[in-house]
Amino acid sequence: MGRLDGKVAIITGAASGIGRGTAIRFAGEGAAVVIADLNVEGGEAAVRDCRENGGRAVFQKTDVSSETEIKALVARAIKEFGRLDVIYNNAGIGGAVGPLEQISVEDWDKSQAVLLRSVFLGIKHSVPEMRKVGGGSIISTASVAGIRGFAGLHAYCAAKAGVVNLTRSAALEFAKDRIRVNCICPGGINTPILHRNQPGVKEAMEDWMAKGQPIPRAGHPEDIAGMALYLASNDSEWVTGQAMVVDGGLTIGASFFSAGGGDRIPTALPPSGYVGPSFEK
Ligand SMILES: NC(=O)c1ccc[n+]([C@@H]2O[C@H](COP(=O)([O-])OP(=O)(O)OC[C@H]3O[C@@H](n4cnc5c(N)ncnc54)[C@H](O)[C@@H]3O)[C@@H](O)[C@H]2O)c1
Repeated sequence: MGRLDGKVAIITGAASGIGRGTAIRFAGEGAAVVIADLNVEGGEAAVRDCRENGGRAVFQKTDVSSETEIKALVARAIKEFGRLDVIYNNAGIGGAVGPLEQISVEDWDKSQAVLLRSVFLGIKHSVPEMRKVGGGSIISTASVAGIRGFAGLHAYCAAKAGVVNLTRSAALEFAKDRIRVNCICPGGINTPILHRNQPGVKEAMEDWMAKGQPIPRAGHPEDIAGMALYLASNDSEWVTGQAMVVDGGLTIGASFFSAGGGDRIPTALPPSGYVGPSFEK
């Protein structure tokens, strides 16, 4: 028996990376999956992956920033599989990056449309279908960039923080309908959003990312798929409005003795032993 037997799930951005990994996992757990993406070739390959993993899947070409296309996506899920239990609003881009003063209004607005408007639209148009079946689970991919700042990622940070707090306000509104709304905050996950399939970059990222957080390895789509599976399944029936951080410990703190990176702080504290009141020798 699969943990998602009988459930129908839409996953956006599922032609690649986290979304594709999650689609394969969901299909293997018994869900029928609607793969949504702008990337047709990747989307069709993801459908094949899901079928090979024993599940049912279809692809719908979708621009997640378009209300018309999100409506059509939900309609496709109903047409193919008869109901909707889960939507995972996951599609994303880097958006406008670099110094804030150099960001154009046009690039700012495009970034927000893909990263934040899309989540609003995914929630708005999935809720009526979830009500019909007595509840559901809405999941979105936020980021650790939604709970802390990253210089040079202003549009992304603002959008992902928006996803975190939209998750909370929507969770309050739809709890009475037994529709749960949660998001995931991944740390560094080695996917095409970072390496863009450039030769050698994925391997270089793998080594570099292993040093980026307390657990000494890069994050992979499967790490996020595991959390998405939990949030989609009935195991999380009592969980709503949460931002689940999956980051290998990136955001939990730093080593006191080398805070700020590498070199030991020039403190009089010994690296180990018991430290008493400061007036004592
Ligand atoms: N990789 C990381 O380190 C990381 C960390 C935190 C959060 N995230 C978030 O995870 C999500 C998935 O990213 P990923 O790392 O798997 O990257 P990815 O590039 O492998 O996958 C993103 C997918 O979204 C699709 N997409 C982009 N714009 C779209 C649009 N307008 N409509 C439909 N599809 C669109 C892309 O075609 C792609 O298939 C994103 O929301 C990203 O911001 C990634």
